Amino acid sequence: MLAQEIIRRKRDGHVLTGAEITFLIESLTNGSLSEGQAAAFAMAVFFQGMVRDEIVALTGAMTRSGTVLDWRSLNLAGPVLDKHSTGGIGDNVSLILAPLVAACGGFVPMIAGRGLGHTGGTLDKLDSIPGYTSTPDLARFRASVQRVGCAIIGQTADLAPADKRLYAIRDITATVESLPLITASILSKKLAAGLEGLVMDVKTGSGAFMAQLPQARELAQSIVAVANAAQLPTVAVITDMNEPLASAAGNALEVKNAVDFLTKAHRDPRLETVVLALGVQMLRLGGLAASSADAEAKLTAALNNGAACERFARMVAALGGPVDFVENFENYLPKAAIVQAVPALQSGTILSIDTRAIGVGVIGLGGGRKIASDTIDAAVGYAHIQGLGQTVSLGQPLAFVHARTPASAAAATHILQQAMHIGDSHLAPIEPVIETLAPSGKIA
Ligand code: URA
Repeated sequence: MLAQEIIRRKRDGHVLTGAEITFLIESLTNGSLSEGQAAAFAMAVFFQGMVRDEIVALTGAMTRSGTVLDWRSLNLAGPVLDKHSTGGIGDNVSLILAPLVAACGGFVPMIAGRGLGHTGGTLDKLDSIPGYTSTPDLARFRASVQRVGCAIIGQTADLAPADKRLYAIRDITATVESLPLITASILSKKLAAGLEGLVMDVKTGSGAFMAQLPQARELAQSIVAVANAAQLPTVAVITDMNEPLASAAGNALEVKNAVDFLTKAHRDPRLETVVLALGVQMLRLGGLAASSADAEAKLTAALNNGAACERFARMVAALGGPVDFVENFENYLPKAAIVQAVPALQSGTILSIDTRAIGVGVIGLGGGRKIASDTIDAAVGYAHIQGLGQTVSLGQPLAFVHARTPASAAAATHILQQAMHIGDSHLAPIEPVIETLAPSGKIA
């Protein structure tokens, strides 16, 4: 087979065979497909799309490009489960949910990502914990999952390497926002992790990649259908990203927010709703609860009796972080030199938020990457962010900016003030959980 002939067929809108897709992905993995050819293929898929069978074949080929984990030899006492988000702002759900599900009897080997575009990444957040090894060897990863019930780590070199290579090429060739490519990219990593159940958090709204609900629905349907075709029972929950989910955005600030949540020091209500909704689906997929009400009761108990917090503390220690992180996190997390209020420029109700702009504001402060080689300043970001429907008076804080320099603080202040539209009318609360797509494709 010739790669350029296969790319030409996709360019011209033909449906590729499984053998053609496998050949391309094998060539991508062994280096015989050039970067230019991979980019041309990605662009052809971007414009021509793929039918379901092609996406299933692409996902399978990318999954098989590296190691596929198998947990059976560990004889784990519960199901192997995970959740994955399509990305948002103030989305620190994973830090809470992985230990929470572990405390309820699940085993969660979570392969998380770094910040992408304007969105934050779970791995970047965890890297603000001194000593935490986000890319451990496989033995340490397995040991943490076995002993603690969860481990959140990054994609290692041998897990879905074809995705790693294609993703890096897509990132610099404007081919990220492709439904078949996103589906195959996410699911190849999840299938390589050897899961028995997956819950997808598909974000929609001003801070999401799929800003409009119909697009988010299409992505949710694609992921659920392809995952189930690959024998991975998957539920998708579409959740709102028209405002930051937690009241903090920025790496160390979101870790603090998550620890405060686990210790009950502070819980953002919308975050709690999303954590519970996703947790209910995970427990139900794993057969760990008889009904949604039973699942919610188990999750709430584990949150309130400290069991989830204890799992988080053990996971941090198992992956090289401080053993007393939960008790003394204020001493461990990096702090910004400047913390200042962002004053409201008028009185009224917060009627809309450009959530994407808040993510861009965090990047401008140094909390995300402008180019792939950038190092991240974990200390910076926004805290105490006010939400939609809240009323503010002139000069009252809309948030607090945490910055390294006066100039970056001033720029981030301006961005946040512009991102929040304040007016006179009333705004009805927006439910954070929009709809759920069951493995059968049924919407609830
Ligand atoms: N996350 C991924 O892992 N891949 C994509 O393509 C998009 C989001």
